[in-house]
Amino acid sequence: MAHSKVPERTSGDTKVYSYLAEYPTPQALIEACKAVRDAGYKKWDAYSPFPVHGIDPAMGIRPTILPWIVLGAGLTGMLLGLVMQIGLNAFDYPWIISGKPLWSVPAFVPVAFETTILLSALTTFGGCLVLNNLPDLYHPLFKKKRFAKATDDKFFISIESDDKLFDEQKTKSLLERTHPTALETVEDDRKVNSALPRPIVYGLLIATFLSFVPMARIAQARYTKTTDPRFNLVSNMDYQEKYKSQRGTSFFADKRTMRPPIPGTVAQDTLALDDRYSRGVEPGTNDKFISDFPPQFSVNAGAMQRGRERFEIYCAPCHGLAGYGDGMVARRAEELAEGTWVAPTSLHEPRLANEPLGYFYNVISNGVRNMPGYASQVTEEDRWLIVLYLRALQRSQAGSVDDVPADQRGALR
Ligand code: HEC
Repeated sequence: MAHSKVPERTSGDTKVYSYLAEYPTPQALIEACKAVRDAGYKKWDAYSPFPVHGIDPAMGIRPTILPWIVLGAGLTGMLLGLVMQIGLNAFDYPWIISGKPLWSVPAFVPVAFETTILLSALTTFGGCLVLNNLPDLYHPLFKKKRFAKATDDKFFISIESDDKLFDEQKTKSLLERTHPTALETVEDDRKVNSALPRPIVYGLLIATFLSFVPMARIAQARYTKTTDPRFNLVSNMDYQEKYKSQRGTSFFADKRTMRPPIPGTVAQDTLALDDRYSRGVEPGTNDKFISDFPPQFSVNAGAMQRGRERFEIYCAPCHGLAGYGDGMVARRAEELAEGTWVAPTSLHEPRLANEPLGYFYNVISNGVRNMPGYASQVTEEDRWLIVLYLRALQRSQAGSVDDVPADQRGALR
């Protein structure tokens, strides 16, 4: 249905939209089409309830140029796909995968194929609509009762009044000569201009303008520096409504967010009733470290085994398996040489050999200078086990001939 815009109708006069001729059979339609075609009309169309063989040549319809447009779109898509991949893979972010060249066409085929198909399909769809002047919300032929039969058992030709050759008399007599079963004048009753309604035009303009806003915001965020917190649509992921420890509040009379234990509260888990066992100090003191294991701790092979295991999990990464301060973390940090790195102390320093056991327990629990405490990860029991193994480690590196039983010393020489 090819037709073009008709100027707005001025009130009073009834403009002719087209002449509509009805035919009983496909053959009659084809004969009529040939006559109209030969007369040289351009703005006219044939309507039938089903595809009629030979109607295209009879109407003089030339093949559409859509295939060529689609070919162009497909080639553009393929080119874009290739250029994008080569640009990204070979220049923006050169990355060798399985030893392949940075740009290898076989690897790019799937994506280039996809972009080819994508642009072709969208162009076919969009091109079909545009070339056929669609979408068309109203057509004057719809007002003709007779015309409804175009979907049932009748065949029609409509010659539009915009055609250069259109002439009330000549066109009518041409159609009469094709022996139609009926001939009607179709009035142009389109009241409004076929242009889009104003509100929609303004809406589209505003939407187009607004669609640039997110892009502009992203571009701005990439190229400006700010100390403001970032733009947050759903802020409750970052800023939860909660009290943080050590912060003030107006809710409680004493203005503290952290509540003191209710009088009479009994601690359940880390109940520090025994200063020796839980803190490694003589009862009632803060820095008089005990030099022996607390009474409830028993030394045996199983304890040593677990102590070693815990040491290798929690201490060896920094202090090294043998305790010389050369664990993986320490070595890696040295290699990177970033910022200030304080090397883990060698556990075989003479100074440490004389420290009481409680001192090590305290270091593990509370940390020392740059070393963090491990109380939250290692239970009290395990801390003592680590101290046991640590002591054994120190001893193992400071052995002397006197440590070997007298009757076996001969074997050393
Ligand atoms: C994250 C690395 C790291 C881990 C894990 C670590 N330490 Fe340390 N440790 C250090 C550093 C660093 C120092 C030196 C701190 C300083 O001098 O500021 C240190 C110091 C020490 C000291 C010497 C204290 C002193 O008086 O100088 C002892 C003892 C010690 N650690 C024991 C342990 C034990 C036992 C563990 C396992 C529970 C452990 N460390 C786990 C990094 C670590």
